[in-house]
Parts: sequence; structure tokens; C-alpha cells
Amino acid sequence: MAPPRIAVLGAGGFLGSHVVPALLARIDCEIDAVDVTFAKLAPTDGRVRRVTASLQERGLVEDITARCPVVLSLTALCNPALYTTKPLEVIDASYTDLIPLVTRCATGGNRLIHFSTCEVYGRVALDETGRPMAEMNEERSGFFLGPLHRERWTYACAKQLLERVIWAHGEHGALDFTIIRPFNVIGPRMDFLPGVDGEGVPRVLASFMNALLRGQPLSLVDGGHQRRSFISVHDFVEAIVRVVQRPAECRGQVLNIGHPANDVTIRKLAELLAGVFAAQVTGRAELGQPAPTLRDVTAEEFYGTGYDDSSERIPDIGKAQKLLGWNPGTSLADMLPEIVDDYVTRYGLSLGQPGQRLRRA
Ligand code: UGA
Repeated sequence: MAPPRIAVLGAGGFLGSHVVPALLARIDCEIDAVDVTFAKLAPTDGRVRRVTASLQERGLVEDITARCPVVLSLTALCNPALYTTKPLEVIDASYTDLIPLVTRCATGGNRLIHFSTCEVYGRVALDETGRPMAEMNEERSGFFLGPLHRERWTYACAKQLLERVIWAHGEHGALDFTIIRPFNVIGPRMDFLPGVDGEGVPRVLASFMNALLRGQPLSLVDGGHQRRSFISVHDFVEAIVRVVQRPAECRGQVLNIGHPANDVTIRKLAELLAGVFAAQVTGRAELGQPAPTLRDVTAEEFYGTGYDDSSERIPDIGKAQKLLGWNPGTSLADMLPEIVDDYVTRYGLSLGQPGQRLRRA
């Protein structure tokens, strides 16, 4: 029997570029890798069929769902700077453009593993009656978004509506689905550096690495008191492989995938990352670069109007641990050296930095 064929939509992005090799290494499968660019996905073996296309391309969804019984949908515009500057594109990418895929999976019998977001929970963890909770829980937390002029929440709202469409197809039809809510996954190849391989403001990890590589201060929005729980992309991908391997257990489930023990302030992330960078990268003094520094900036200065934020975002991962037999094990301190290596190696030379002089502490 031919190995099963899995479609990975968004295979060329940060998460896709880690998910595809992990699936190939762990599951006897063939992959249809779909994206508009494959800059981050190294050429692999003949088991990967690369399709350079966007989801809106005529016939693409029909072709992919006819070929692949399992579909992982990872495509997104998931960068907060875009939610307030390009909200209509964000809504289309998170909702409108994905409706044909969901409909097709529902009618064609495809298994859909859809990547949503922890942002659906909104500003803080509240239960269904509005009382504070320590962690965000798939079944017991409500969704607390801001008013319309806080355009930050366009993304969360569009993602939430797509989750509800998927849920309805499962509950009132036959759609076999799993919804994944990633909580601040970080690792090599995340996002872009402005002016090198992208424009605008990337997410916080790439934003800080950009500042460090250029010898500029790291910007702490509103003092960096906000908290996030960061999970290593390697721990994250381990969970995703298990979701693919366990269709019966994961059918109709919504799963938080994150690492609650890595809950830190953004200021703490900046301090840790700057410390690893200073210890690990030589050649800064020859270039006249100062030791890394931090600077406070208001959200309005940094993102413009319409921004809003989550003050704290801790996942309850009890369900994922139980269903997947999985535990995220990597501490924040342990994941940073590999990340710093990756950014210096990839961008050091294009920024005129001493990529080849990198040394491990
Ligand atoms: C984003 C997306 O909206 C989520 O969908 C996604 O799940 C999440 O990233 C993720 O990576 O998993 P957020 O955590 O707010 O959400 O994104 P970041 O841009 O990484 O910002 C994290 C925090 O750092 C925010 O409080 C932001 O204001 C702050 N920040 C960002 C800084 O203090 N300095 C910077 O240079 C950049």
C-alpha cells in the first residue's frame, strides 16, 4: 500500500519548515508542501512534492484535497503589526481564504488539522462568567477581545470565527478535525529581519535579534511587563507529529500547545537573549558595537494606533499531555543558544556582522 499523503499548507514558513522534516522522519508518508515561497524549507527527498501557489489559486484546494487524505493548514498572517495596518488582509488570510478548504474537507472526508492561535482567548484568561483564571483552558475559558477600534483583535476574531465554522462542520456534519492553538512558539527561522528578508515589525524574538545583530537597543513595549509562555519549536513539532499519529484520540479536539513553565515577562526574555548573544557572539567590539541595551517605548510609538495586548498568556496543556502522551521539556534558557546561532549564521554576513566568528559559550 502506498504511504499516506499529507498536505502541509504553509510549508515554507517558520512552523512548516520544522513540521515537514519531522513528519518525514517519524511517519512513513509523502507530503504535498504548498506555499508561495520555500526559502525556509531546505530541499529534502523525493517524498516531498513542492507546490508554489497561494490557496486562492484556481483549482488548488480541489487538487490538494483530492490527493491528500490529511491536511495541515498553517497559512497565516500572524504578526501583530499587521493586525492594525492590514486588517482586511489579515481577516482574509485567517478566515475568508480558508472557507473553501474547510468546506472541501467537510464534504470530501479529509482529516483537517488546523492551526489557530492562542490569541482567540484575548487579553487575559477568564472563565465563562468573567472570573480570572490562572491558565487558558480549551473548554472552560471565555474569549475576551477588545472594542472595534482596538484593531489588534481582528486576527483573533477572524481565527475564532473559522474555529466555529470548523466546529460546526464537525458537530453537525462529518468533518474530522483537530484545532491546534499554538502559544508563542520560538526557534530557528522564525519571522524575518526588516530590510533583509521582509518589511515591517516582526514578532518579538526576531525584533530583538534584529536589534542585537545591528547593535541597537531592544525595544520594550510599555515597559516589557507583559508575559508570554514560550515553547521551543522542537517541543511544539513533537506534539504535532503525535496529533497526526493519533487520529482517533484527536478527532474533534481543540488543543493548546505551549509550555506553561516558560512564562516570563518580555523584559526577562530581552535580558536572557541579550545575555546569550553577548556571551556567544564574538567580534562585536571590533565593529564598535556597544553591549546590548534595553529601551522603553510606548505601544503607540512602536505599533501606531489600534494596538492592544494580552498581559499574560499561560496555556493549560493538560488535555494535550493526556491525549498525546507529550510533555514539553525545553526551558527558555536552553532554547536560546540555538536560536542565536541560527540568526547570526543566517543574517550575520548580510548585515556585515562576523557570522563566521560566532563561537559557542
Ligand atoms: C503573536 C500572534 O498574534 C499570535 O497569533 C501568535 O500565537 C503569537 O504571536 C505566537 O508567536 O505564538 P504576540 O505574543 O503578542 O502574539 O506577538 P509578539 O509580536 O511576539 O509580541 C509579544 C510581546 O512582545 C507583546 O507584548 C509585544 O508588545 C512585545 N514586543 C514585541 C516588545 O516588547 N518589543 C518588540 O520589539 C516586539
